[in-house]
Amino acid sequence: MRLLRALMRSAPLSSRNTPSLVDFYSKFSPSPLSMKQFLDFGSVNACEKTSFIFLRHELPVRLANIMKEINLLPDNLLKMPSIKLVQSWYVQSFQEIIDFKDTNAEDLNTVQKFTDTVITIRNRHNDVIPTMAQGVVEFKDSFGVDPVTSQNVQYFLDRFYMSRISIRMLLNQHTLLFGGEVKVNPAHPKHIGSIDPACNVVDVVKDGYENAKHLCDLYYMSSPELELTEFNAKSPGQPIQVVYVPSHLYHMVFELFKNAMRATMEFQADKGVYPPIKVHVVLGSEDLTVKLSDRGGGVPLRKIERLFNYMYSTAPLPRMETSRATPLAGFGYGLPISRLYAKYFQGDLKLYSLEGYGTDAVIYFKALSTESVERLPVYNKSAWKHYKTNHEADDWCVPSSEPKDMTTFRSN
Ligand SMILES: Nc1ncnc2c1ncn2[C@@H]1O[C@H](COP(=O)(O)OP(=O)(O)OP(=O)(O)O)[C@@H](O)[C@H]1O
Ligand SMILES: [Mg+2]
Repeated sequence: MRLLRALMRSAPLSSRNTPSLVDFYSKFSPSPLSMKQFLDFGSVNACEKTSFIFLRHELPVRLANIMKEINLLPDNLLKMPSIKLVQSWYVQSFQEIIDFKDTNAEDLNTVQKFTDTVITIRNRHNDVIPTMAQGVVEFKDSFGVDPVTSQNVQYFLDRFYMSRISIRMLLNQHTLLFGGEVKVNPAHPKHIGSIDPACNVVDVVKDGYENAKHLCDLYYMSSPELELTEFNAKSPGQPIQVVYVPSHLYHMVFELFKNAMRATMEFQADKGVYPPIKVHVVLGSEDLTVKLSDRGGGVPLRKIERLFNYMYSTAPLPRMETSRATPLAGFGYGLPISRLYAKYFQGDLKLYSLEGYGTDAVIYFKALSTESVERLPVYNKSAWKHYKTNHEADDWCVPSSEPKDMTTFRSN
């Protein structure tokens, strides 16, 4: 608390002094919110002024924390035009929020203007992911990649995209609750902003399946069926519900269905018979688990971690099979971004493959809303060290490709 007051007193005054303000705000740690806090705030005290006061501090903190980390990227990567563009968006948005630092929170006009600014910022950052991905491709094409750079970029992008998910969550909650004429979404009157307090998991899974199936039918003229099993161990026989952001859940299952369908259609093409995708939705006391099992031939263990690697998967340009429809496979960001969505509220996403047979993709969620707390990157010494430490030699033996000639060791 004393540190916070001291920092406040030493706050630079000029709002245009951006670099030192970024330094200043980066010294605060972001404040992770729990799903319960998002709900309580939206339902009981939905107050634009309170949200304004929270966001005019929290948004610059989250932005500054990640802006400091962007600066630690390799110089050659920072020179790429797309990366510069993304950086300029962050600087501009940071400045626009900072302009509200000393404004009067009692003034309705100011609070309204802030909400408009939040909408502008959200729209400005719509294309951050493809633009950043483009920058990584440009960098790779110009300079190639060594394992250390690849590791640093992977570490950075996971944190950068996670920070973006969290910032958009805050922006979305504010605009959905206060941005429009009506606070209640007529299509989903029970939703609190983007959160459904009783999100029916099976419904979202079916939705994701249907949309992926539509794409699959367009491209392959056929698609695997869905076989769904729901098991509620907590309240047997009841539908499985969770406090969650349905669009996040949808994003994950849609990506996993697209992958499972593509693998199944390609692997089973000769037979012309496509085994169904089996889905289990299970609620325990701690975890809510969704497992998708396909018969798409699987992936060797050696390659599994690579599927989550941004540097690796950005190599081929998006395969735009049809000009209008979303392709079944694109930038190769489906898995890594879906895993971030799962991790954002303390869950996870894992792939278990049986090469030659098929893959199980498992998404884990926290069953309790009190445990679904935002997982946020923080810029500190440990993060800094990640970029600065020279990665030393492996501390496990590397097997040589040639088998040793054991006859030379034979004692006689
Ligand atoms: N269920 C699966 N079975 C077999 N291979 C898979 C499966 N899921 C993913 N893969 C492999 O992992 C790769 C990466 O998947 P990911 O979803 O991240 O990217 P993508 O599908 O290539 O493109 P995008 O999802 O961005 O449109 C895929 O191209 C595919 O080779
Ligand atoms: Mg995919």
